[in-house]
Amino acid sequence: MAHLLQNRIAVVTGASAGIGEALAREFVEEGCKVVANARREDRLEQLRATLGSQAVSTVAGDCAEPAVIERLLDTARASFGGSRASEADLVVINAGRGLGGTALTSDESQWDDLIRTNIIAAARLIRAAGKRMLEVESGEVRHDGVWLRRPRDIVILGSVVGRHVSPFSSFYSCTKAAVQTLAEGTRRELGPKGIRVTLVEPAFVTSEFQAVAGYSPQWYQQMVEKFGPMLTPRDVARTIVFLASQPANVHISDVLIRPTRQEYP
Ligand SMILES: NC(=O)c1ccc[n+]([C@@H]2O[C@H](COP(=O)([O-])OP(=O)(O)OC[C@H]3O[C@@H](n4cnc5c(N)ncnc54)[C@H](OP(=O)(O)O)[C@@H]3O)[C@@H](O)[C@H]2O)c1
Repeated sequence: MAHLLQNRIAVVTGASAGIGEALAREFVEEGCKVVANARREDRLEQLRATLGSQAVSTVAGDCAEPAVIERLLDTARASFGGSRASEADLVVINAGRGLGGTALTSDESQWDDLIRTNIIAAARLIRAAGKRMLEVESGEVRHDGVWLRRPRDIVILGSVVGRHVSPFSSFYSCTKAAVQTLAEGTRRELGPKGIRVTLVEPAFVTSEFQAVAGYSPQWYQQMVEKFGPMLTPRDVARTIVFLASQPANVHISDVLIRPTRQEYP
């Protein structure tokens, strides 16, 4: 069977754990080359050792740093661009973090980091990747008898709580509401130029996210009992493979993915 993402070059931020790591695995399985980013270099090296250095390159560092962002995109071109010096054409802005609590109750000392990681880093990578995608001659491929431009994607991880504001994590929610706005605005800007900007909004996914956000294990266990089985990182990764593997003229631009039993948020 043909691989769904053959000849694509991906950048995935936050690939040392959770959704990003699952995504790197699924992408490689579908024939895609991947540049993986996160701060924990040892985890990235493990991923590269498992998936093979022909398919995976790594750039360790803070995804909000402009120099790291440039290195990510340069590495995609240098490692996998081939003689045509192609740019990354599947950029997944996934790195992010949660924070339990409201404006009144959350740990204020973490607000700056949340805004920097969830919003500023996303905006910087959208800007850098978008500019490069616009500069590159997109080439054309034949699909079902019609000549179409080849797909180019920027996929952004929002959250269900960016859409349906949740009282238990309203500060985190507001960063994901910002991401939703950024994604939709960029979709309207780049869609007419053939670039698909897609927002993926998961609900509960069991990963390192809960510990980083500071959720109490007892509270999360209650959520599991109420809504479980929760989503796995692979569930979200498989959804993103599906979105990215559509023909270039088809754009599923907004996906909300929940555990079936989670009615709200
Ligand atoms: N899990 C959920 O329930 C859920 C629900 C909705 C949306 N989301 C969103 O989905 C995305 C992925 O979440 P997840 O569940 O996979 O979380 P996770 O398991 O905690 O993974 C987060 C990843 O982001 C990386 N990261 C964090 N800060 C970074 C930074 N400054 N620079 C580079 N990498 C950074 C982490 O790696 P290092 O620590 O090695 O840097 C890790 O690889 C996030 O944007 C999150 O907001 C998650």
